[in-house]
Order: sequence, then structure tokens, then C-alpha cells
Amino acid sequence: MLPPETELWNRVEQTAREVFGTYGFGEIRPPIFEPTELFARAVGGETDIVSKEMYSFEDHGFIELEQWRAGLITRSVGAGLPSEFEKYEKSVLAYLDILSARMSAGEVPKTPENEKALVAVRNCLKEMNQAGASFLRTQTGAGEFAFENLLKGVKQALLSFRFGDVLSLRPEATAGICRAYIEHNMQQWPAPVKLYCFGPMFRRERPQKGRYRQFYQIDAEVLGGSDAPGIDAEVIEMVMTFFAKLELPGVLLEINSIGHSGAGTHGKAVCRRAYVEALRAALEKVKDKLGADSQRRIETNPLRVLDSKLESEQGIIAGLPKIGDYLCEECKTHYAEVKRQLDLRGVKYVENWRLVRGLDYYMRTTFEITARGLGSQNAVCGGGRYDGLVELLGGPPTKGIGFAIGEDRLILSLQEARKEVASGEWRLAIETKNPPSKTEGGAPGGGIGRDVYIAWMGEKAQVAAIAAARRLREAGLRVELPPVAQKFGKALGQADKLGARFALILGEDEVASGQWTVKTLADGAQEKVGEADVVEWLQKKKV
Ligand code: HAM
Repeated sequence: MLPPETELWNRVEQTAREVFGTYGFGEIRPPIFEPTELFARAVGGETDIVSKEMYSFEDHGFIELEQWRAGLITRSVGAGLPSEFEKYEKSVLAYLDILSARMSAGEVPKTPENEKALVAVRNCLKEMNQAGASFLRTQTGAGEFAFENLLKGVKQALLSFRFGDVLSLRPEATAGICRAYIEHNMQQWPAPVKLYCFGPMFRRERPQKGRYRQFYQIDAEVLGGSDAPGIDAEVIEMVMTFFAKLELPGVLLEINSIGHSGAGTHGKAVCRRAYVEALRAALEKVKDKLGADSQRRIETNPLRVLDSKLESEQGIIAGLPKIGDYLCEECKTHYAEVKRQLDLRGVKYVENWRLVRGLDYYMRTTFEITARGLGSQNAVCGGGRYDGLVELLGGPPTKGIGFAIGEDRLILSLQEARKEVASGEWRLAIETKNPPSKTEGGAPGGGIGRDVYIAWMGEKAQVAAIAAARRLREAGLRVELPPVAQKFGKALGQADKLGARFALILGEDEVASGQWTVKTLADGAQEKVGEADVVEWLQKKKV
């Protein structure tokens, strides 16, 4: 990436910082590589990303030990030649001694797997002694076969020994952020914890326009707190606001709910499990008409068949069972409420029942956003809810939702838009007229600070609260809008915990009279401010 293009990248990132900041997000910078196991667990071992696209390596500097092992593994040893076996055995035992010493010294990982590998090698060697002797006595093929099998056992066990930790370049950011959430006890921060990060991700995919092996994401996650549908809607509203600010062309938001994956009672599958069963059965019936990839997926992951772009399969897929007909009552209600909350915020969407996403951690809400000028790789953003992921990684039960924007594609689409502008000097749509909030420092108990907490009470006030949040954010203020109505006392407590400086109180009286109550949390002073003057009032007070 070269100048002047890097200028565009910087301005896109600056705009993200500004917009996300007004929603109360703070930046996290997770490491570029993490233990492979983390991604395998979070994203899923059967997914394309983990099973074939990760750049993984063993983190160690023991080249000579590796070469020695390679020698032991490629050597052939005849069952009928005792002297040959003796030499081999000696050499392997000497190697094991060195590995044990390095393990004791803490230079190579002292893991149960490594210890098991050493024991397995020794056991195989012992049995080889016997098998070899029996072969010499009887000269039967069976004896030779046993010997060869044991030799294979030695080699496999040697190969399974790890000289260092197995690491991977991150293929995505969510897993690492959840790992950090656990490691840094962020469940003790005031909830919800809202984090974003920028940076390179790595996937060994077939490169083409808009698809690279090193690509960049702008990632945002909301962790902890409730799973109220208002949170789903707000996260989506935030990314749509960001795209609107950039004037990204041809933005289309698609949403779906993929239910939850829990088991039902009395062995009867419910929700997503029931759907997967029905889908698999339906796919079995049309198996002959499907391509090889989809045929394989009937067994491994039938949901992925819905992703197929194969022309010949489209007609068949259109006739498959739809997940919406299988959602349990809770998931159905949640989805309906997400849609209502999007409507309240004026966010336009289309529903796409085939949107299942290629990572295992999702449940309920999933969404994708496409933009113009990108050809076949036109998804600029993908995301969804992932309650349970933090717990799966060893943390406490935690709600989660987030998204990642493909920054390379975002930039490509903006550049295409630039070409569309026929004349005149093209100027970036991004304006920095709203400087980022001057509030620095976090909440008192750790976490990210806020300028304004909107305490709204009564369903009628929600519409006014959503509109107020938008106005304040447009003015660059960091705003927390609780997703559900709260009692007055609880709201003020939350505002305090988050380190908010002002609480905007919106009850039915305030909405009816247009006179809003603003409370300065430091001294408890309370004032009535006219609806039209609130932004200016807060901006003046904040400095
Ligand atoms: P994802 O759909 O795998 O989701 O990736 C998100 C976005 O990254 C895609 O929509 C695309 O724009 C971009 N992207 C993916 N692969 C490539 C590539 N090889 N080259 C260029 N761009 C690419 C995730 O990664 C999830 N972690 C999103 C998320 C966050 N869900 C919850 N929180």
C-alpha cells in the first residue's frame, strides 16, 4: 500500500474511530498471532477457515532436533536384521534422552501430549524387540507385519512431539478479543464492554479481486450485559452510520436469524438442530443433482450448502426448508424484536434466510452488508451474535455480538465510486467536522468512559431516546443508550458505573413537554433544557 492510497486508508480509519467512539467503543490491539487451538475452538475445526486457510507454525528454534527427527522418521529398519534394529533403537533412545532433558529444563513444552509421545515411543521400541525376535524365530510374514506396524508407531509418536507452541496468524479478530476479555477479567468492567480494532488478518484463500491472503479488517465487538435485541439493532445502526458517512455506494444490509444450537429436552431436536436435521433429510433426497462440494457438506455441515454460488444448485436450494420455520419461540421473538428495533432506527434491511455465515460461533442474529463495484467478492461486512463463545473459551457465560468490515473491499468500493464521479476533483465524503470526543480516561472501575447516558423510561420515550442518541452522536458525544427501559435509580447507577458525565432523563413528561432533564453526575445538579438546545448545552458544559 502506497501513498496517496494510504491517505484514504487513514481517513477511513479515522472516521471509524470517530463514529465508533460516539457509540462508546474503545480501541483494543490484540496480537497478530495466537495459539492455533484458540481459533480451532472459537471459529470451529470443521470450517474452511480453520481446516484449510490458516497460516500455522510451531514456535521454536530447534532446527537440529527437527533434522534429527526427520532422519529417524525416514530411516527403514529390517525386521530380520538385529544389528540394524539395535542401532536404530540406540539412536532413538539417545534422541528421547535429549528431548526429556529439554523438557525438564523448560526449553520445550512439558505438556501431557509430549510426555505421552515419549512413553509411546519407548513402548513401541520394547514391543519391536519382541516382534523382531519372534520374526527371527518363525520367519513368518505376520511377525514382519507386526514389526513394521510398530516402527510406524514409533515414527508417528515422534512426529506428534511439539518443540514449541503451535501458533497461527489470526484469520479473524473475534476469538482473540474474547480471549483478552477473559484474560483481563473484563467481565468486571461496567457492561457492556464495547471494543474495536483494526489490523491485518490472514487466510490462505485463492486470491482474486477483493480477496487476499493478507487483508485488513475493522472489527467491533460488544461483550457482556444483556442480549436485548436493541443491542443487535444498535450495532447494525453503527456500521450503517459509518458507511453512510463514507458515502459508500450501493449499500445493502441482509439479516437473518440462525437460532440457537442447544439440545432440546427428551432427545427431541429443537431450533437450529431440528432445522439441520430437516435440511439434511431434504438434501439427501436431491443428492444426485448436487455438486461434489455440496454432496460432501450434507454430512459435514449442511448449512453451508445454502452458501453455494453454483448456478445449477440455485433452483434446488430455493426449494429447501427455511430456518425461519424451525426457530424456537425465544429465538423467533428475539428476531422479530431485532427487526422492530431496526425499523425504529430507520435502518433498511432485507431478510435472507440463506445467510448462515461460515464461522461456527454464531447464534440468532446474523448479518452481511454488500456494496457496489466489487464483483463476486462483494461482502464488505459480516457479523452476528455469539452468546456462549466466551464461555466456550473458558470464561463466564457472556453475551456477545459484533462485526468485521473488510477494509480492502471498503476502499475498493470507495475508489470505484470515485471513478463514477464524472468530472471535478473528487473529494472524500469523509468530513472531520466532528472532532472526536475530548473525554479521555475510562470508567472508574476500568473500561471505557461516556459523555452522556440516556435514561429513558416507558416505551413511548424510546423513540425519542433513539433520536436523541443519534443527534448527540452526530455532534461527537459518546453516548450510552440502554437497550431496554430502566427504572430511574438503576439507570443513574449504570450511568455512574460507566463514568458518564451527564444523564439525559427522558420520561413521558419530558417527551410530552419537550423540556428534557439533564443531570450532571459529578454534583447531582439537575436542569430542564429545551429539546432543541440539548446538544449545544451539553457541548458547552463538556469543555
Ligand atoms: P467474515 O465474514 O469471515 O467474518 O469476514 C468479515 C469481512 O472480512 C468479510 O465480509 C470481507 O469483507 C472481509 N474478508 C474476509 N476474508 C477476506 C479476504 N480473504 N480478503 C479480503 N477481505 C476479506 C469475520 O471475520 C467475523 N470475525 C466477523 C465478526 C466479528 N463476527 C462477530 N464479530
